[in-house]
Amino acid sequence: MVVTIANPETSPEAATGISANRYRQIVGVAGVFLVLIVLSGSAVRLTQSGLGCEDWPKCSEGQLVPEWAFHSWIEFGNRLISGVIGVIVIAAALGAYRRVPRRPDLYPWAWGLVAGVLAQVVLGGMTVWVDLHPLFVSVHFLLSIVLIWNVMVLWRKSAIETDAVETNATETDSILQQAAGQSPSALTLTPSALTLNLSRAVMVMATVVLMVGTLVTGTGPNSGDSQALRLSFDLRSIAQVHSATAWVLVALIVALAFQLRSQAAATRFEGSGGKTPFAQVQVLLALTVSQGALGYLQYALGVPAGLVELHVAGSLAVWCVALWLHLTLGSMTSAGSAVTSSTSAIVTDSGLTPGGIS
Ligand code: HEM
Repeated sequence: MVVTIANPETSPEAATGISANRYRQIVGVAGVFLVLIVLSGSAVRLTQSGLGCEDWPKCSEGQLVPEWAFHSWIEFGNRLISGVIGVIVIAAALGAYRRVPRRPDLYPWAWGLVAGVLAQVVLGGMTVWVDLHPLFVSVHFLLSIVLIWNVMVLWRKSAIETDAVETNATETDSILQQAAGQSPSALTLTPSALTLNLSRAVMVMATVVLMVGTLVTGTGPNSGDSQALRLSFDLRSIAQVHSATAWVLVALIVALAFQLRSQAAATRFEGSGGKTPFAQVQVLLALTVSQGALGYLQYALGVPAGLVELHVAGSLAVWCVALWLHLTLGSMTSAGSAVTSSTSAIVTDSGLTPGGIS
């Protein structure tokens, strides 16, 4: 089957606009910086530099840039990265209007980044004003997680029109080839309701693990400043709750892996970086188990700063891979329904249903 698609990059509109690829690069850079700021933010806390600049937006009264001092510059460096992020997310928001082809459905996600970063600036300032109150530190971290979700959805959506058109063409071909008795190289997969629900449950549980993790931090010794308040939980008990939630997450990921193991679910899907959902869920499982092991180790060693920074990096990795898998399954659902509506073949990860192919 031959599908002819007008090349938007050579249209007259393209001369004044930004190509879809370039726009996706801008969003990708925003994503990288949104991950970096979490790591630099926790470095601020773990080096006890949280009040290295005791004022905001100036570092100290009357001084925007601090004198040379380790803690002041760690905190100030973090503020500089925030400034870069501000510029990039504004570029992503304005770029959405110059993107060729135009995609109004991207606008809310692009502005979501700007709104989220503005909220983080205000919240960051309030966190300093309340002397690093652990609940403010916790919400500051969790809002970053929401921003990473936002940027990944935008990145995925901004790729979808090219992927979807190519994938639908290829996969419609393969379904028709199979109907004609030929062996297809790829099948369109529509994940079953159980798969999608398990994937949703993984996302919800990952969020719970992250939330409880920040409560462990708020109770433990890594406060960011010796003056900062601590939550009144018993450290051992809250760490136990945190690890229990991590075990539930592991169990859900294992269940999803079993669900995705069937032959149809192993089908490669264009746009997931060449990975099958089954390969993605294996990466997720390996990361989550390693993250759990690291959690026990850092707890046993009295939460040394270096290991805690690694644990924060691991939690971002778990979150990003869980989202990557979830968004891939979501895309398969929409691409699958686009194809099935034109071929009347329905393929789920439990196999092919009647309607053309069995
Ligand atoms: C899926 C697995 C896990 C994830 C995604 C995860 C995530 C997190 C997050 C996001 C934090 C808060 C970081 C911050 O506020 O800067 C945290 C803190 C912590 N986690 Fe985990 N965690 C996992 C498993 C575990 C396990 C099994 C343990 C074992 C007890 C553990 C022990 C801790 C401890 C002790 C802290 C506090 C560290 C500090 O002093 O800041 N974690 N975790």
